Amino acid sequence: MVSEWIRVCRLEEIPQLGARVVKTGGADIAVFRTADDAVFAVEDKCPHKGGPLSQGIVFGHQVTCPLHGWIVGLESGEACAPDQGCTQSCRCAWRATR
Ligand code: FES
Repeated sequence: MVSEWIRVCRLEEIPQLGARVVKTGGADIAVFRTADDAVFAVEDKCPHKGGPLSQGIVFGHQVTCPLHGWIVGLESGEACAPDQGCTQSCRCAWRATR
């Protein structure tokens, strides 16, 4: 587990109900912004067959994978039942700046 914080962007630079991909040395991380301005980060890799979650449809605190429609929780990275699997989630924080 990586324990360092990485500054990604301003909140406004992530579209509501969208995502921005951060390339790291090990994995691509999808940073999502929900309708209520919550921010979540998970590996941009669906637990089913590796689809790009950043291109999925965000609703509530979940995303629907664009390839086969699995629903993945953005807080935990876990697939919603009846599907099973998990993608890596990351702690995420943002603060307001002027
Ligand atoms: S790769 Fe995501 S649902 Fe199949």
